[in-house]
Amino acid sequence: MALLSVLTPVLAVILCLVLGFVLVKSRETTPTPSGKAKGASEADFRPWVDQDLQDDTEITVRDEDGDWVDSHEEDLEHVPYSPSRYSEETMLQRSKDMYTLLNQRRSVRFISPEPVPREVIDNVIRTAGKFRYKEDKWLCTVVLLSFYLLHLLTPPPPSFSWTGTAPSGAHTEPWTFVVVSDPKMKHQIRQIVEEEEEVNYRQRMGDKWVNDLAKFKTNWIKEYLDVAPYLVLIFKQTYGILPNGKKKTHYYNEISVSISCGILLAALQNAGLVTVTSTPLNCGPQLRLLLKRPANEKLLMLLPVGYPASDATVPDLKRKPLEDIMVHI
Ligand SMILES: Cc1cc2nc3c(=O)[nH]c(=O)nc-3n(C[C@H](O)[C@H](O)[C@H](O)COP(=O)(O)O)c2cc1C
Repeated sequence: MALLSVLTPVLAVILCLVLGFVLVKSRETTPTPSGKAKGASEADFRPWVDQDLQDDTEITVRDEDGDWVDSHEEDLEHVPYSPSRYSEETMLQRSKDMYTLLNQRRSVRFISPEPVPREVIDNVIRTAGKFRYKEDKWLCTVVLLSFYLLHLLTPPPPSFSWTGTAPSGAHTEPWTFVVVSDPKMKHQIRQIVEEEEEVNYRQRMGDKWVNDLAKFKTNWIKEYLDVAPYLVLIFKQTYGILPNGKKKTHYYNEISVSISCGILLAALQNAGLVTVTSTPLNCGPQLRLLLKRPANEKLLMLLPVGYPASDATVPDLKRKPLEDIMVHI
């Protein structure tokens, strides 16, 4: 009896410890409202978010090395701005024409191998942002140097610009467009994409996502990556690197690059070319290394560009009417 009375407090303490341990463990695995365990990785919660991309558009990003600079362009000159102004009738017509043009845009997954004039691609990319050619880098260097020397002698004509037309957070222009036409490089890109996409379809995406895509008849085979005369890979620069090696904040870089991609799609349509907006999940790091892009660049989109194949088909989709997408207050 005496032994029991001595052991009771000890047993009570052990019982409390066991209960406490069970409680802590159960908290660690309590499902969140999205139905996933708290300890699960971000990729498990949102499999559609590319692990390399993430959303880092917050405006105060700084890393530990403190190697960042702030912009000191206080004395930026402000110049008069007077774009064309149209009559109401012309405005109406132009707005209708633009709608008619862009309403014909479709994602086309069957692209003709027919060559496309390179200057057209240059202009389309110029409309959206700066460009880099994977092949002919010497030619590119010579052209850039010639323009630089010419620029020293005479100011460039006002209609000419090396940079794109898209707006960007604090005018950081955080985009790089890599244009690939070299058949070997295109094939290497296809191999990387198909390998990852097979894993995406078979494992990462899950049944719901795969079922949602069934009507588009897509899978991991991407013939257009070999066939299209050009592949345009669009990278967002998560930060800038100045000539002195310091880092520069690229505010809202993903939004800025996405806007420039929208302008690029419109420019392609305007030129009579087609593409399919593709976002190959988790292919970014390998493609970045293949294309020798720096670590501050992350792949946002991959666009195969060309004429549509003569037997191209598209899913017969319907678009939402204006009243479903616009709220007028
Ligand atoms: C952000 C984004 C990602 C997309 N990713 C893919 C993709 O990886 N593969 C693909 O075949 N289509 C992709 N698409 C194309 C869509 O399936 C297509 O835009 C949609 O079905 C509407 O068709 P439309 O572009 O012909 O109007 C993507 C579109 C967007 C906007």
